[in-house]
Formats: sequence, C-alpha cells, structure tokens
Amino acid sequence: MKKNIKQVNGNSSKEVNAMTKKVGVAILGLGVVGGGTYQTLTKHREYYLKTQNVDITVEAVLVRNKEKAVAQGVPAEILTDNIAEVIANPAVDIVVETIGGVDAAKDYVLAALREGKAVVTANKELVCKYSHELERVAKRTGCGIYYEASCVGGVPIIRTLLDGVQANRVQEMMGIINGTTNYILTKMSQEGADYADALKDAQKLGYAEADPTNDVEGFDALYKLSILSSLAFHTKVPYTKIYREGISKIDSKDIAYGKSLGYTLKLLAIGKNTEKGIEVRVHPTFVPNAHPLASVNDSFNAVYLKGDAVGDIMLYGRGAGAFPTASAVVSDVIYAATHAEVKYSTFKNTATADSSVKFVSDFESAYYVRLAVDDEAGVLAKMSGIFGKYGISLVAVSQITQKKEPDDEGILRVPLVIITHKTTETQIKNAMTKINASGMGKVQAAIRVES
Ligand code: NAP
Ligand code: HSE
Repeated sequence: MKKNIKQVNGNSSKEVNAMTKKVGVAILGLGVVGGGTYQTLTKHREYYLKTQNVDITVEAVLVRNKEKAVAQGVPAEILTDNIAEVIANPAVDIVVETIGGVDAAKDYVLAALREGKAVVTANKELVCKYSHELERVAKRTGCGIYYEASCVGGVPIIRTLLDGVQANRVQEMMGIINGTTNYILTKMSQEGADYADALKDAQKLGYAEADPTNDVEGFDALYKLSILSSLAFHTKVPYTKIYREGISKIDSKDIAYGKSLGYTLKLLAIGKNTEKGIEVRVHPTFVPNAHPLASVNDSFNAVYLKGDAVGDIMLYGRGAGAFPTASAVVSDVIYAATHAEVKYSTFKNTATADSSVKFVSDFESAYYVRLAVDDEAGVLAKMSGIFGKYGISLVAVSQITQKKEPDDEGILRVPLVIITHKTTETQIKNAMTKINASGMGKVQAAIRVES
C-alpha cells in the first residue's frame, strides 16, 4: 500500500511506502564534522531503516573542492559547489550545516528554512549570535531547527535541557564544555607538554575550531554557555553578558604549583540563576583533585546541572571530534525525520536580554594568587595584611620554592602562592593593585578556585 505522507518539515511530500518514511539530507561542508556525518549516515542507513523505520539518504553534499570529496569516498553525482542547487533540490528535506562561521553558513541556513527545509547545525557561533533570526524564519515556514552538536559534542545536553529537565527550575550549571582546551590542559598537566605542541595535536585530532583562537581564548565555550544558559534559565543570555578569560596566558608553572597543592586546572563554564540575578562566566579554574570535574580529561566534556526537583545531574562524554559530533548531528537528523511537531526555544528568543533580567558581574570566587616577592623579613606579613585590608581571608600561604626567579619586570624574587577564601572581583582586584604598588612584590598570576 502506498500513500502520501507529510515530510519532516511540512511543505514537501513524497510517494513512499506507508511503513517507511523516506528522507533526503544535504550536507553543507565536508570537513571534520561534515565528513563524520556523511560516513555515519551512509554506514548506518540500514540500521536506521530497521530501528527508526526511516530511510535516510544523502542526496547532496556542498563542497568547494569536489576532487577532495571524491577522494573521501563521496559519489561525484551528489557533489555540488552550488548552494542554490541544494536549496532547490526537492529530494532534500533536511539541510545539515557543518561549514562553520557566520557568513555563508547564516545565508545558507536561512535559505534552507525559507524553502521549508529543516535544518540541523553544529555551529555554536551561528546559534549563539543568530538563533533569534533563524527561529523567526523557521516558525514562519513551520520548519525545525536543531543544534544538539553545537554544544558539548556528542553529549545530549540540548535535548536534556529542552525535554529531560523541563520539570525543574535549573539553578546552576557548571562544566567543561570545550574539548580543545581540556585536551591542552590535560597534556600540560599530566605529561608536562608544551602549550603550543598540545594545541597542534588538538588541531590534528580535529577538535579545534578553524581559528583555534576561539577555543583557547574561551569564545567557543562562551558561545556554548550562552546557548545552554538561555535554555536552562528560560531567558535570553546574550554572549555579551558572559565574562570570558581563555587559557593562552596560563603559565605551566601555575599548573605545576596548583598540582602540588592538590588542584587541577580546567577551563570552566559556569552559569547560576540566583536571587541576585544571572551569573555567567568562562575562565580557567582550579578544582580540587577529588572534584569529579578534575578527572574529566582529554577531549572529554562534562556538565553539571542542578535542578530544584531533580538535584544534581552530570552528563559526560566526548566534546569534540568527527564521530562524537556526528552522533549528535545524526541524532538530530533522525529526530527531525521522525517528529512532525517542531519545538522551539522555551524562552523569548530576542537579540538582546530581557530588560527585566539582572546580570551579576561582581561575582564571588576563591582565588589562587601567585606573587613574586622580595625575600625579606616582614614581606609575608605585609602581603597578608593587604589581603586582610580588603576583607579577603586566606586559606593557605605557601612558599613553593626558595629559588629566586625573575618576575615579569626581571627582578629576582621568590614565588609565594596564596589561596583565598571566597572574595568578590572588586575586592581581589583592589588587593592586587595594592600589592603591585607595594614595592615588595608583584602579582604574577590570579586563577579562580572552585571547591
Ligand atoms: P572544518 O573541518 O574546517 O570543516 C568545515 C568544512 O566546511 C571544510 O571542509 C570547508 O571546506 C567547508 N566549507 C567552508 N565554507 C564553505 C562553503 N562556502 N561552501 C562549501 N564548503 C565550505 O570544521 P569542523 O571542525 O568540521 O567544524 C564545522 C562546524 O562544526 C563548526 O561550526 C564547528 O564549530 C562545529 N563543531 C565542530 C566540532 C569538532 O569537533 N570539530 C564539534 C562540534 C561542533 P574547505 O575544506 O574547502 O575549507
Ligand atoms: N572546538 C570545539 C571544542 C569543538 O574543542 O570543544 C566542539 O564544539
């Protein structure tokens, strides 16, 4: 028996067996994620037919270099370098965007949505900066827009936020949401690797963004935190509201000193929704070695969520790489292919934050502070006194070595490491300014500590 069934995005239909839905996919960009997506879809076609009752075929692949794509095993007849052909192709129901960036990718995604095709994207920058625009068009044409792969690689965090924890008021999330920096910090900490070498390895393994500055300076994590916290807190959290600090200025000395004091360094993304307002930040953070995030290594990511009903949840898995990311992309393709109803953001998706929402900038954190100080009597008392003057209480003061080292001005001084109790940003900045002006020492590093 044959009958017309409605296609995934509602405006095209195909003659298909009533028992099996046929769905055509186009992949835009055949790099790390696009390549992994192509291979996963073709390898598992029969499996999805059996398990999902949907026959998903790759009908078109948009590339800039066809020879390179043929060498990757993609049949020449489905390759094109013309986006208009892809958009006009009636066999394409779902467009997968794995180009990256916000120029061509945005135009292509909007063109697909306007044509009534569902879109699956791995592009966190696009979703973070333009989801309000994309959703507006998607709603108009009744299409789905899916972006599981944009955050935390193969870990199904978006689906968890959209469906799994909807019963809760999510109060807090904290996690390692960038694979490249976690890989680099793991190699530096465990193998004493050089920062630049570890970054090169992460690029070779396909973890890094086209411009790895986005990873190491924390932009990638910031885009992801904007998406995740908007979904978690049901209000738009624009990326411009997020405090950001990357790992490129981290000195391997601090990783080693922190380690000797029982801490592991991670790039953390933190989102809190408190009575004072929303607090969102991405920065290198020392976590105690016993903390579950301390043992999340290499390209693995992990996110903690705290909901008022469920309590703590932790999601863990590969945050980057061809196949972990393809897992998220293809799961979205299957979802789009098998769900007629489309679910959009569960908050007012506008370009800017709601004017009634407060954002906290003078947040509280404990600190690891490394000073280079004169090796003289009274210096320790003087430094502790400055912290005390600004209301900062100290957990530990440690002179890691007696060996004098040149500080950032070339003066030979000894390192002094201080761990503080929780303090505000204003307090710690004031104390550091005072230390730098004391003539007895200079701040060499200040890294937040999460306990
Ligand atoms: P990639 O390896 O650089 O792949 C991008 C591909 O898009 C390249 O093959 C590039 O072609 C192609 N491309 C760029 N502009 C194009 C255009 N106008 N027309 C046709 N093809 C074009 O990057 P990726 O790592 O796969 O990342 C893709 C997206 O996935 C990004 O948004 C990224 O943030 C996201 N993502 C990546 C990962 C990961 O682990 N890598 C994980 C999650 C999400 P050329 O080869 O000609 O340059
Ligand atoms: N560059 C990103 C990362 C890819 O390293 O986490 C996954 O989004």
